Amino acid sequence: MIKSMSVALEKNRGKDLWATLQKMSLRDKIGQLRQVDGSGGRSDASLLEAIRHGRVGSVINVVDPDLVNELQEIALHESPAGVPLVFARDVIHGFKTIFPIPLGQAATWDTDLAREAAHLAALEAYAVGIRWTFAPMIDVSRDPRWGRIAESFGEDPLLNALFGRAMIDGFQGNDLSAEGSIAACAKHFVGYGDSEAGIDYGSTNVSEFELRNVHLEPFRAAVAAGVASVMSSLSDVDGIPATAHRDLIRGVLRDEWGFAGLVVSDWDSVKQLSVHGITSDDKESAYQAAEARIDVEMTSDTYENHLADLVSSGQIGIEAVDSMAMSVLKFKKNLGLFDRPYTPKNYKSGISEAEIKDCARRQASESFILLKNSDSVLPLNQKKLSSICLVGPMADQDREQLGTWVFDGDPARSETPLKAFQDLLQPDCEVLFEKGLATTRSSCAELADFAVEKAQHADAVVAIIGEEAILSGEAHCRANIDLPGEQVELIRRLKATGKTIIVVILSGRPLTIGDLLPHADAVLFALHPGTMTGPAICDLLFGHKAPSGKLPFTLPKSVGQVPIYYSKKNGGRPATHDSIMSIDDIPAGAEQTSFGMTAFHLDDGFEPLFPFGFGLSYTEFTYSDLHILSNELSRGGELHVSVCVRNTGLQDAFEVVQLYTRDRVGSVTRPVKELKAFNRVLVRSGEAQTMRFSLSREDLSFYRRCREYGVEAGEFDLWVGGSSQADLHVTFEIDA
Ligand code: GLC
Repeated sequence: MIKSMSVALEKNRGKDLWATLQKMSLRDKIGQLRQVDGSGGRSDASLLEAIRHGRVGSVINVVDPDLVNELQEIALHESPAGVPLVFARDVIHGFKTIFPIPLGQAATWDTDLAREAAHLAALEAYAVGIRWTFAPMIDVSRDPRWGRIAESFGEDPLLNALFGRAMIDGFQGNDLSAEGSIAACAKHFVGYGDSEAGIDYGSTNVSEFELRNVHLEPFRAAVAAGVASVMSSLSDVDGIPATAHRDLIRGVLRDEWGFAGLVVSDWDSVKQLSVHGITSDDKESAYQAAEARIDVEMTSDTYENHLADLVSSGQIGIEAVDSMAMSVLKFKKNLGLFDRPYTPKNYKSGISEAEIKDCARRQASESFILLKNSDSVLPLNQKKLSSICLVGPMADQDREQLGTWVFDGDPARSETPLKAFQDLLQPDCEVLFEKGLATTRSSCAELADFAVEKAQHADAVVAIIGEEAILSGEAHCRANIDLPGEQVELIRRLKATGKTIIVVILSGRPLTIGDLLPHADAVLFALHPGTMTGPAICDLLFGHKAPSGKLPFTLPKSVGQVPIYYSKKNGGRPATHDSIMSIDDIPAGAEQTSFGMTAFHLDDGFEPLFPFGFGLSYTEFTYSDLHILSNELSRGGELHVSVCVRNTGLQDAFEVVQLYTRDRVGSVTRPVKELKAFNRVLVRSGEAQTMRFSLSREDLSFYRRCREYGVEAGEFDLWVGGSSQADLHVTFEIDA
C-alpha cells in the first residue's frame, strides 16, 4: 500500500528545490551525495537503516520493482528530508533483450538504430524502476588488448561522439521526466581508453593536445546533447586521477562547457584516490573529490564519514555541499521523481518483446563486417543445400553471444545460430552440428575429430568461433589477441576436408586473425551481437540481407603493432610501400644503418590487416564524380561536396559512404586522416546515388598550440569512399 505523498514531495510540487535544500540538515545534504549498492536487497539491514536515516541519495543494482517501491516508501515517509531515491543500473546495450555490444553497434555506422535500441532498452529498464543508466561509454579506444574496448564505439572520436549522442537521445527521450525515459551517463571522464598496455584501471599518459583533440571530443558532444550525468574515470589522467581532477571536472566540464548536470564517481573511485597515492587517507580523498565537485560518491563512504568534519573545520565550504546536493535534487526533479517517485505496477510500454527483438535482429545483422568472401561463396543458396554442418564453440551459446555487461540479459530470449539454422532450414535441409571445441579456449581433441568427420557429409560448413563473453569487458584484458585456444587449428582441419569453410567470428574486441584467413573461404566478423545473433547470421549467410558493417577500429596484423589506428600523425619519416623492407630481406652481418629508413616494423611493416572503416558487401560499389560544389569556409560558411556511388553488382545493398579530411599544416601536428562525416545509404543493383556532404568551420576546428579551439588557414585534403583507405580525392583551402 503506497501512502500519500510526503511533506518533501508536497513542497516540491512547486519544484522550489532551494527551499527544500535550505530546510535540510548538513547530514541530509551529505546523504543525497551517497550512492549505495543495493544488491543485498531486503536482507541488507544496513541499507534499510541508512535510507531510513536519510543517508542515501541513490541506489545501484536493485532491479525488483517491488523492492524499489519499498525502499522508496522508506525514503519518502521515514527519512528526515523525505527526498525520493533514484535507482541506477548499468543498462549498457539492452536490459532483458540484448543488442550488440556498443563496439558492435558502432560497426553498423547507423546512429538512428542505436537511438532506437537505447530507447527500447530504457523501456525495459524503466519497467523495473531503473531511472538512471551508466551509459553511453564514449572512451576513444585504440588498444584491442583493453577489455573495455567492447563497451566503446571504437577508435574514432566522431563515431564515439555521434553514437554517444544517439544513445543519450534514446535513453533520455525529449522529456527526461516522461514515462520510459531514463537518465544517461557519459563515461568515463576522461581518457580511460588510453590505459597503459591495455590493462584496466591503469594510468593514461595523455598529452593536453591528445586529450583535447581526441578523448574530450565525445564528452563535449555528450554535454551538447544534454546528457544528464557524467561519470569520472577510475584511471589516472597524466598524474591526476580523474575523480580528483578539479581542472577537468570544474574547469573544462562545468566552466568551459557549461555542464549543469550531475557528476558521479565510478565504483569506489573516491576511496581509491589513496590507492593511487594522490591522497593519504579517506578524509583527504573526500576533500579532493569534493573540491573537484564529484556530486555523488558511488559505493564508497568517504563523504558519509568525513564531509561533515571537513565542513565544520572549514576545509570545505557549506556552499560546496549545497552545490553538490543541488545537483542531485535537480537531477531527481528533471526525472520527475518528486511527482512520480514510485514505479508503476506492471508498467506497460506498449512495445512487445517481439518488436524489441526485431530491432535487436536488425541491429545485429547490420553489425556484421564481411572481411573475406573468396569467389563469392556467400551468400549461400538455400535452395541448393540439402545439408549444412554447423561447427564451433560459439554456435549454440545463448549467454556467450550476449557479450559483456549483461547482468539482466535473459538468455532464454537468445536465438543462437544453431536454433536459427534449424528454424530456417529444416526439414528441407539437414542441419548437422558439432561443437568441435568445448569452449573457445579449448584444445582440439575428440570433439574436433567428430566435427571434421561430420563436415565431410555436408554441402557447406559454417564455423562459429570467437571469444566467450568473459574474455572481454571490465578488467578482462588480454596481452595476446589471437583467437583463443586452438580455433584456428580446428578451422585448418575443417578446410583440409576440401569443403568450403565459412567462418563467423563473435568477439568482444578486435582480434589478430591473419593465421585464420588462409583456411577460410569467407569470414564474417561481429562483436557479440546479442539476443538475435542466430537470425542475424541467417539473414546474411542466406542473402536476405547483404553485410553492411564497417570496422569501427583497425584490425592489426599482430598485437605488436598496437597502438595502430588510421588517424595517426605523419611523423617526419612516414613509411611508404617502397620505403620498407622485410626482416627477411636483411642479409646476415648487415651493418647498422638508418639511411633511407622510415616508420615501420621490420616484421609487420606499417599497414594493418584490415583498415578502419573497411567492410565488404555482396555487391561492388564504385565511387566517382567527387566535386566541391562550394567553399564558403573562409567567410564563415560551409564546404559542400557531392559524390556518386554506384552499385555495380546484382544485389541491392547498403554502403557506408565515409568522408575524411586532412589538415596539411597546423600549429600542432595533425592526423593524416580524420573521419568528418558518413552516411549509410541503400543503393539498388545497377543504380547510383549522389551523396552530398557539408562541412563547417566547427567540423574542422581543433585545439591549437595557442590553447584555443579554432580553424587554421591552409590547404586540406578530402577523401570519400567505403573505408579509411578511400582514394577519391580533392583538395580545398581555407584562407582565414
Ligand atoms: C564499474 C565500471 C563503471 C560502471 C560502474 C557501476 O566499475 O567502471 O563503468 O558503470 O562500476 O557498475
